[in-house]
Amino acid sequence: MAKIAMLGAGFIGDFYTHSLHGLRSRDRVMVVSDRDESRAKSFALKHGIPRWTTSIKEAVNDADVELVVVGLPNNMHYEAVMLAVEAGKGVLCTKPLGRNAHEAYKMLEAVEQAGLFHGYLEDLVYTPKTLKGLEAVNNGSLGQIIWVRSRETHPGPHSDWFWTKEISGGGVLLDMGCHCIEIARNYIGKDIRPVEVISTADTLVKPIDAEDNAIGLVRYENGAIGQFEVSWSFRGGMDLRDEVMGTDGTIWVNNFLRTGIEIFTAGGKKGYVAEKAESEKGWIFPVGDEVTELGYNHMFADMFKAFENKTEPAETFYDGYIVNEIMDACYRSAKTKKWEPVSLKVWRGQEKSKPIADVREYDKDHIFVKEEILPDGTLKIILKEKATGKIVQKIKK
Ligand SMILES: NC(=O)c1ccc[n+]([C@@H]2O[C@H](COP(=O)([O-])OP(=O)(O)OC[C@H]3O[C@@H](n4cnc5c(N)ncnc54)[C@H](O)[C@@H]3O)[C@@H](O)[C@H]2O)c1
Repeated sequence: MAKIAMLGAGFIGDFYTHSLHGLRSRDRVMVVSDRDESRAKSFALKHGIPRWTTSIKEAVNDADVELVVVGLPNNMHYEAVMLAVEAGKGVLCTKPLGRNAHEAYKMLEAVEQAGLFHGYLEDLVYTPKTLKGLEAVNNGSLGQIIWVRSRETHPGPHSDWFWTKEISGGGVLLDMGCHCIEIARNYIGKDIRPVEVISTADTLVKPIDAEDNAIGLVRYENGAIGQFEVSWSFRGGMDLRDEVMGTDGTIWVNNFLRTGIEIFTAGGKKGYVAEKAESEKGWIFPVGDEVTELGYNHMFADMFKAFENKTEPAETFYDGYIVNEIMDACYRSAKTKKWEPVSLKVWRGQEKSKPIADVREYDKDHIFVKEEILPDGTLKIILKEKATGKIVQKIKK
């Protein structure tokens, strides 16, 4: 059994606690902390949590607590992680790890120097569909991954602090780009170095200082590209879609919107439909089990299994740090309108990864390029002559 301090009685604290208490009843939140005492108290009563407090320090130092889960606004991640480190407790932190790479690096350094268990709560790499996709990629079904496109869009976040740049650290690029970047990194290979980025980030719709729409390309050392598309002004619910293109295959994932259950209601559902759903009347698109579909269950199962076995979970503060560095580079690129390098203070992957190349011998004189059956039934084979480098075609009736 893992005994947990939940920091933050808001939206994510609620999802996390549902997941923690639901999937493995042996894990328990022992204390919840929120600066709003009435929220902390009602959260504790709702989830059967024995203690609540307005003091993060008190929650972290609770004698029963072994693991701290940080579900606070972005400006509080650093302070909360440092309090966990001071208390010598393991710590799991929600996304983004830091408001920038500097904060993230200091958190990584602190947990590693103290030898503490740490996990980066990037739920969207743990959705059942993503896990299935990653399994296909990891067993070689798709060949080498060339391009990953990840889209996260919704009509904007649910609390004031997200929209306030000093607290959040940034707009949609930081808030949702972090998910897309880590999804792409997982498919492309976390041991392949991200080298440079180009990005646009603009405030197009909302009356805020931070960006509400952003698009970017992250180029990896082997030539693969991770593309992210994020928006806080998308209408129609929450769109979480990924596409993976490999030399031998393709994956299309739709994690959330219109994924199998569609309900028509003339009178309206009256209340919550699914995260960021905009309509409760007419055709609505609920989600079977959100804590599963959004990856929280598999994420915490991995985190606690690793905690018990004294190993590392799939996502650690190191991953959170890499994602923050990529996003910092994206912010630089959005200003300069140029490719910007990703500068990493620490890199634990391949030192030099081989470029993507799919060279297949056809016969002793030719390299295979592609083949296609034409409408008249003939087979056309495109080949490269080894001796001359010339591209030629053979037609087989
Ligand atoms: N899919 C995901 O992984 C996911 C989804 C949503 C949010 N998040 C992350 O979770 C974190 C919290 O977001 P949220 O959606 O729960 O926000 P929220 O506004 O719903 O909840 C935040 C809670 O923190 C409390 N709080 C605010 N400032 C505090 C302070 N200084 N000290 C103590 N308590 C304080 C508030 O009272 C509130 O209850 C953010 O970092 C966000 O990026 C992750």
